[in-house]
Amino acid sequence: MPYSHIIAEKKGRVGLITLNRPKALNALSDALIGELGQALDAFEADGEIGAIVLTGSEKAFAAGADILEMKDRSYIDVYSSDFITRGWERVAHCRKPVIAAVAGYALGGGCEVAMMCDFILAAENAKFGQPEITLGTLPGAGGTQRLTRFVGKSKAMEMCLTGRMMDAEEAERAGLVSRVVPNESLVEEALKVADRIAGLSQPIVMMTKEAVNRAYETTLAEGIRFERRLFHSTFATEDQKEGMTAFSEKRQPDFKNR
Ligand code: CAA
Repeated sequence: MPYSHIIAEKKGRVGLITLNRPKALNALSDALIGELGQALDAFEADGEIGAIVLTGSEKAFAAGADILEMKDRSYIDVYSSDFITRGWERVAHCRKPVIAAVAGYALGGGCEVAMMCDFILAAENAKFGQPEITLGTLPGAGGTQRLTRFVGKSKAMEMCLTGRMMDAEEAERAGLVSRVVPNESLVEEALKVADRIAGLSQPIVMMTKEAVNRAYETTLAEGIRFERRLFHSTFATEDQKEGMTAFSEKRQPDFKNR
């Protein structure tokens, strides 16, 4: 399907979405967020796709919500239209794994969308920040909550209160990104990781994602109970039988997503 603000491509069993508003550093306009939701819906519905990579350009993953588009909106405008919740949260609600491949600026809503993904691979030139305070507002797409869970109170508070950016090395040290890779191999590396995930059993991958996400939403005891029930339920799948049989027969498993 042709889009105006993103490019959506199938790379084998991986869906690649590239944010594509280069003149505005991929500022996240309503139209762009709408297209992103449509592309995610399409990849979620496509049985051939096992994982999704979300990336931007070499200069910017995304420089935040579109400031020019929102600057004159009133309280009633943003409240009534459920700004952010309607649309943006689609990323966080994906059931298939979504990997953010971040080069350049991931600021404000850009940082927040990256954090809605399941993990972040960063290029060496990546810069993360929540500069909303310098605009007279505060993060509105989960930044104060997700950044704090990723990097702890002290660093999150400093970043949200000052708007200071964090480079890739600091982001890796702080646990915001899973790995830093050379700029030129970012998308290739993200596709490789996504393809590895897409080659596993899709239902078990989704259960694993659900279980890890639960760690952010509940107590340790409840989280462990949730994990245990999912673990037990994998024994009702053909893929668990295939995976363990293949190991015992010293061959690669042939998962059927059943
Ligand atoms: N919204 C709209 N347009 C944006 C934008 C944004 N968030 N970020 C950059 N642009 C546009 C600029 O207006 C400029 O357009 P023109 O060429 O037409 O003037 C173009 O992108 C290039 O930007 P710069 O000239 O500023 O590029 P630079 O290299 O000098 O600076 C930057 C890069 C540091 C990222 C700077 O653009 C910047 O500070 N951007 C804004 C970052 C920001 O504050 N983000 C938070 C937005 S609020 C938010 O996201 C709320 C939320 O939580 C949901």
